[in-house]
Amino acid sequence: MKITVIGAGNVGATCANCIAQKELANEVILLDIKEGVAEGKSLDMWQTAPINYYDSRIKGVTNDYEATAGSEVVVITSGLPRKPGMSRDDLIATNAGIVKTVTENVVKHSPDAIIIIVSNPLDVMSYAAFLTAKKDSSKVFGMAGILDTARYRAFLAEELNVSPKDIQAVLMGGHGDTMVPLPRYTTVGGIPVTELIEEDKLNAIIERTKVGGGELVNLMGTSAWYAPGAAAAQMVEAIVRDQKRIFPVCTYLNGEYGFENIYLGVPVKLGKDGIEQIIELKLNEEESKMLEESATAVKSVMKVLDDMNIM
Ligand code: NAI
Ligand code: 2OP
Repeated sequence: MKITVIGAGNVGATCANCIAQKELANEVILLDIKEGVAEGKSLDMWQTAPINYYDSRIKGVTNDYEATAGSEVVVITSGLPRKPGMSRDDLIATNAGIVKTVTENVVKHSPDAIIIIVSNPLDVMSYAAFLTAKKDSSKVFGMAGILDTARYRAFLAEELNVSPKDIQAVLMGGHGDTMVPLPRYTTVGGIPVTELIEEDKLNAIIERTKVGGGELVNLMGTSAWYAPGAAAAQMVEAIVRDQKRIFPVCTYLNGEYGFENIYLGVPVKLGKDGIEQIIELKLNEEESKMLEESATAVKSVMKVLDDMNIM
């Protein structure tokens, strides 16, 4: 089993580290365009193996796609991250070209790989990878929902002083400030969250979640990496261990939820074949309206991609 992570920056290196520590593959390839960076980080990670007690081999390469050949899963994290004052959508001009070139190389060397996109703006970069890869959409999808849901769950765990393990939740829509948290589908040890928290506190947590990425950009001057890297690795785990996990994933919709030809976060079943099922929740009027608004925001960024005429 070989897994490749493209981009050895903050998110890519963290993701590769999580994949190796979980022993999801015998071989983990980390590829970057910057000379020596992937090699150096991989060597450093490999030297944690005797301490952290794993035997997945991590190898770093500079733009050498031959080394990635035959990968079963490829995570694409290459591209610029946000700086303070930027939205994820501001990244499109640079990142669309990077995602396109990288995806072409990935597909050339690993035609059967399942591709997970992390680069922002996430929903539109997933769409760009899908157009480039020319694969079934069940094999090309994006990571955002696990991260956004993890932020929501972490904030709730803190507020309720309970284990984050006991909080189950789902968040839908685009990976942006229009994301759609669903309190109706949030439980704490099986108990509806609304029975355990006042409405104004829950609303404040929902609002904080929506701008959770921006909160970290303002603190650090660049975007987050520990939770994003771990979230992408959790998707890899569900695939390589055929876990059939139910996660919110940025997925191509072809009629589901009434949307066509768009990548948007919805709950799916993730297993060895990639997206094995799209789960259609029964949304109420307010939730449907929020999802519609989120889809409209994603479509406006898709239009920017279309106007670039590079796909
Ligand atoms: P970073 O700047 O630390 O790393 C990006 C890496 O990509 C750099 O090492 C760079 O050399 C490499 N790169 C650029 N062009 C490349 C190419 N053509 N081929 C191979 N490597 C190339 O950035 P960071 O923090 O790792 O973020 C990466 C991306 O992930 C950004 O677009 C960021 O916005 C996005 N992101 C998405 C999240 C999500 O939830 N989907 C969460 C966090 C970040
Ligand atoms: C995040 O949500 C910026 O997408 C990145 O942390």
